[in-house]
Amino acid sequence: MSSLRLPWPLPALASWGLCWLLFTGLLRAGFGAATALATATALGVGFSLLGGSWWRRLLIGLGFPLSLLIAGGLALPAWAWLLPLALLALIYPLNAWRDAPLFPTPADALNELPTVAPLAPGANVLDAGCGLGHGLLALRQAYPLAELHGLEWSRPLVWLCARRCPWAQVRRGDIWQADWSGYDLVYLFQRPESMPRAIAKASAELKPGAYLVSLEFEAVGLTPLAKLEGVPGKAVWVYQTNHVQSTNPPRL
Ligand SMILES: C[S@@+](CC[C@H](N)C(=O)[O-])C[C@H]1O[C@@H](n2cnc3c(N)ncnc32)[C@H](O)[C@@H]1O
Repeated sequence: MSSLRLPWPLPALASWGLCWLLFTGLLRAGFGAATALATATALGVGFSLLGGSWWRRLLIGLGFPLSLLIAGGLALPAWAWLLPLALLALIYPLNAWRDAPLFPTPADALNELPTVAPLAPGANVLDAGCGLGHGLLALRQAYPLAELHGLEWSRPLVWLCARRCPWAQVRRGDIWQADWSGYDLVYLFQRPESMPRAIAKASAELKPGAYLVSLEFEAVGLTPLAKLEGVPGKAVWVYQTNHVQSTNPPRL
């Protein structure tokens, strides 16, 4: 999801203000304090997806409950203060943090991919860790005739992604537990630290001729089929099982 167009810190201030409006509105409407806290916090956590960096997301997501806590004067059981953290954990599950937090693929980042990684109509393409579906949208733009699949660990993101990309098969799962052997192309936008694991998994599971594509992060040790730089600062590393040359294992 792209960051808010407003200059920082206006997005955070706007988000907190809207959370407070919702919170006070719900209290006035007769809802309980815990319900109002949970609903307004959920709104803030939703807005946090628009933040362009981790710190901004945390500030947007936690700003409202923290300001409420500091303001005091609200009689809530202690457990109610765990709600904001639980909501954040739902949308950014810790397991997924190890691999990659939610950052989106730019819309045009994969446009040149078919020139170096052509796929037959109906080919199976996986966005491993599909987040809100930006990678799937970019893949669809590149391969309109492919069967697109998305795998994501965070339940709310799976739900949202499936709604944004109804033409894709989106399901919840761990990209490292999933079987990659049925895919003609596996697309990743994870972290540098995840790449050795991705190399090992792709080497073990991808069928001959299949592609491993990584946005931004190189599979160090493998020779890429191509490195595309259609979007500045967002290199697309393309590897193919029967084209990869590596001086040392691992190989695809
Ligand atoms: C950088 S985002 C990329 C989102 C999407 N692929 C895109 O390019 O727009 C990485 C995503 O991978 C998800 N993720 C991280 N580790 C995962 C895992 N082990 N299994 C499933 N999803 C994971 C995160 O929750 C996050 O949504």
